[in-house]
Amino acid sequence: MFNFSYQNPTRIVFGEGQISQLANLVPKGSKILLTYGGGSIKHNGVYQQVMQALDGFEVVEFSGIEPNPSFETLLKAVDIVKTQGINYLLPVGGGSVIDGTKFIAAAALYQGDPWDILAKRAPISAALPLGCVLTLPATGTESNGNSVVTRYSTQQKLSFASPLVYPQFAVLDPTVTYSLPPKQVANGVVDAFVHVMEQYMTYPVNAAVQDRFAEGLLLTLLEQGPLALKDPHNYDVRANVMWAATMALNGLIGQGVPQDWATHMIGHELTALYGLDHAQTLAIVLPALLQQQRSQKREKLIQYGKRVFNLQHTDEERLIDETIAHTRAFFEQMGVPTRLADYGVTSEAVDAVLAKLEHHKMLKLGEHGDITLEVSRKILTAAL
Ligand code: NZQ
Ligand code: ZN
Repeated sequence: MFNFSYQNPTRIVFGEGQISQLANLVPKGSKILLTYGGGSIKHNGVYQQVMQALDGFEVVEFSGIEPNPSFETLLKAVDIVKTQGINYLLPVGGGSVIDGTKFIAAAALYQGDPWDILAKRAPISAALPLGCVLTLPATGTESNGNSVVTRYSTQQKLSFASPLVYPQFAVLDPTVTYSLPPKQVANGVVDAFVHVMEQYMTYPVNAAVQDRFAEGLLLTLLEQGPLALKDPHNYDVRANVMWAATMALNGLIGQGVPQDWATHMIGHELTALYGLDHAQTLAIVLPALLQQQRSQKREKLIQYGKRVFNLQHTDEERLIDETIAHTRAFFEQMGVPTRLADYGVTSEAVDAVLAKLEHHKMLKLGEHGDITLEVSRKILTAAL
């Protein structure tokens, strides 16, 4: 196991009815900017619960944060923060609303051009405090320091990370996920699954705790994901999916182990260019990447096949083939197709994505830094 230093400062407030706790979670006297997306919270009762809980606070609203939040939209919120003296941010929504609000938190106190936070990964020295209400289990953003923002004019989807933008608290009420469309349920499960894989499917470093935790999360998502589609109002299923997605990317399972993230980096370019949902890109790239990197990932692929899919073949090549096939089949079972062609994306995409990867200096991806542009080309070609 590698050395590590780990702290996750986000207080998780979990369970039905917990939105009412907001009054105790947001610091007294705060002037709040309540941020949200396209209005789902107005149809499922979440907005009303939040406003009721914030009775007595000064609340300014900012709506319209898009899926894959837009840099330009977020700058409008930064203006409101500055002109109205906002001192606390409260995103209520999915990963896009929370990521976007982390960017607002950083950009509002940034001295230079806020685009540099993303394009140059310019370090930030301050951010406004935020807490969040999560409505879509998927990204783990509710208790991590990451944010992904898209600049539509240049088709760039870029991220930044800072300990300063961890939410102070995250309210996780599984009942608010009942209203999710099946596509978003599936996306969330696939995203969380791939987050675990990015931190687990590398090479062994004798990190038994991290491996067993990761395998537990994968097994949970394999079991509960399909149940969430079949039985949408099952509280226990929704609760398990929600907690698994948080645990998948709150930093815990990634401590002391090598990490990959090539699937995400290639996937972000696909979203920026073709507008595919984040999870759709992951379902496309991961199976092709596992096949391409099967010799580097050999030991962990075998471990994953045996422990997660219970495969027992003595022929290890066959075991790896079936392990990758089971992974692809799970995404398909969730209703997330795994080929570019399934989304109408054709072979011209290969060169287009490679040009973007090159522009963003994604030249040595993966846990060994051996996913060069040529290897990315093979992965994308295999994913057509
Ligand atoms: O905008 P509204 O009206 O709220 O509708 C949203 C949106 O259309 C809807 N939705 C959310 N909760 C709902 C609901 N509809 C009904 N009932 C509810 N309870 O779902 C749609 C998608 O929402 P979005 O926030 O875009 O989805 P997700 O949570 O999957 O977030 C995706 C974004 O997160 C980034 C992705 O790249 C993408 O931009 N990621 C962030 C990460 C992080 N910060 O650590 C890691 C991830 O790998 C990922 O890159
Ligand atoms: Zn993801």
